[in-house]
Amino acid sequence: VSLPPAYFDRLYGRDRDPWKFRTRWYEQRKRDLTLAALPQPHYGSCFEPGCSIGVLTSALARRCDQVLAMDVSTSALDEAKAGLPQGVRLLRGSVPTDWPEGTFDLVVLSEVGYYLDPPDCARLAELAVTSADDLLAVHWRHAVADYPMTGDAVHALVATAAEANGLTRITSHVEADLRLEVWSRDGRSVAERTGLLGS
Ligand SMILES: C[S@@+](CC[C@H](N)C(=O)[O-])C[C@H]1O[C@@H](n2cnc3c(N)ncnc32)[C@H](O)[C@@H]1O
Repeated sequence: VSLPPAYFDRLYGRDRDPWKFRTRWYEQRKRDLTLAALPQPHYGSCFEPGCSIGVLTSALARRCDQVLAMDVSTSALDEAKAGLPQGVRLLRGSVPTDWPEGTFDLVVLSEVGYYLDPPDCARLAELAVTSADDLLAVHWRHAVADYPMTGDAVHALVATAAEANGLTRITSHVEADLRLEVWSRDGRSVAERTGLLGS
């Protein structure tokens, strides 16, 4: 089964930044990789489910006009509220159930898919690929005892959903610790998009 909100509230009850997003080099580097992998310099709208205390959210806001950020944990959202830049809207909710209406120029699934069980994660993947023009997913690859899925299994579900819905994988970056991939409705490479390949 997918991990319940109480699991995350307990984590935030013990530590306001349980993953040390604000201080860990691993997290800072991963955030930089995430931002560098985005194929567009700027986006209109972005959705980030599982936004935690809003550190990646703030960075995304510098590349997007509007960021909708959702988390199951009210403690995380309370911590996120302070210091968020303009253009960010926080919502309490649980994906896939509370996936918002509408479409997004960018959807970012960063360290959220493996908290779901496979059917919920497949639904999450389906919602993400049908509502995003660009979809970035980045997940920890090592197994964690409490988590229903691994990062690689999450990405396999996203890849299947993306392929079935006409999105192309334009970036794949795999390390021992993390997998970061981008799927896009526009199958062209960044060089092609920006005229570097000539005509
Ligand atoms: C590891 S943090 C990821 C934060 C941010 N996306 C990043 O990568 O920097 C995971 C967050 O996902 C939230 N979360 C877990 N399951 C969720 C679900 N089903 N719907 C929405 N948020 C969820 C947790 O409360 C936690 O704050």
